[in-house]
Amino acid sequence: MAPLWIALAVCSIICSRAAADVGVCYGLQGDNLPPPEEVVALYKHYGIQRMRLFDPNPSALEALKGSGIAVILGVRNSDIPNIASSQAAAQQWFDTNLAPYLNDVNFLYIAVGNEVIPGGDGSTIAGAMQNIQTILSSKNVGGIKVSTAVPMTVLGTSFPPSAGQFSKEVDGVMRAILGVLSAQGSPLMINVYPYYGYVGDPANVPLDYALFRANGTVVKDGPLGYSNLFDAMVDAFYSAMEKAGGSTVSVVVTESGWPSSGKGNVTTPEIAGTYNRNFLTRLNANGTPKRPDAKIDGYIFAMFNENLKPGPATEQNFGLFYPNKQPVYHVFNPII
Ligand SMILES: *[C@@H]1O[C@H](CO)[C@@H](O)[C@H](O)[C@H]1NC(C)=O
Ligand SMILES: *[C@@H]1O[C@H](CO)[C@@H](O)[C@H](O)[C@H]1NC(C)=O
Repeated sequence: MAPLWIALAVCSIICSRAAADVGVCYGLQGDNLPPPEEVVALYKHYGIQRMRLFDPNPSALEALKGSGIAVILGVRNSDIPNIASSQAAAQQWFDTNLAPYLNDVNFLYIAVGNEVIPGGDGSTIAGAMQNIQTILSSKNVGGIKVSTAVPMTVLGTSFPPSAGQFSKEVDGVMRAILGVLSAQGSPLMINVYPYYGYVGDPANVPLDYALFRANGTVVKDGPLGYSNLFDAMVDAFYSAMEKAGGSTVSVVVTESGWPSSGKGNVTTPEIAGTYNRNFLTRLNANGTPKRPDAKIDGYIFAMFNENLKPGPATEQNFGLFYPNKQPVYHVFNPII
């Protein structure tokens, strides 16, 4: 037992970043990624205990069996209208994508779609969430929470944080979603990228404020002071949720990150590493200025650079790891 004891003691000193409430998104939009069994082993090697999976990929779910990794499982955006159409359709989704894995995979949440709004038709999201929740409860797995993930662009106003408000376009959809979430005691899933806040307005947003390394208050909002953009963005969400009937709903940050390449000197491995290391430290601290007691669970986007991800070059360079499993920069310490 001695070697194990020593390993654990050493780990408790150097492995502090392998915190329990931090996860990493496992995106699969690459043609050169390692097989899922190796990916699960890589999560375990680095002590990453939570994973967000964007859709019910059977081989990834198979590889997760017995791993102990806690999973957010996504419902494909294109499946939402059908799931909302009837309880039988929701049952079908459950039977195909969840039931075969329930005994062996630790599911934390079901994410009914990712960033459907703004832009897409969100009118069936709340109904699909409700139908899936009904099935889970009937199968006695109601502890798995059902939600949906939205980006910052659902906010029509985000600054100052107290003025946060959903845009007119999504207001009705967000009210319906928040209604389901508050009835179920489930959190809203929000994708929060200070990177976009910074690159959208570098003249007014200090890089240090985006990277969690400003000293002291940068933005004052009434009685509240903000030393980092992430907190300001999350509080803008809370403000918007309060105005749309969701004042009791909490949040989980289902994506955050910083690309390491693709946009000149603001996308270097050094800056991306700084962001993600500080993000983890931030999650381990208290809540935001608006809700200091509400600790936030978060997920880094993403595990790998994904060469088939559409969009600008930065999109393909959000990974903590190269497809060959080598780190792009240091965030997590190996534990096994
Ligand atoms: C914050 O304080 C540290 C330590 O005093 C210093 O090294 C760093 O340059 C300061 N950062 C800013 C943005 O002023
Ligand atoms: C990037 O380069 C520009 C132009 O030289 C400079 O003004 C800016 O401070 C640099 N940004 C970083 C993050 O190094």
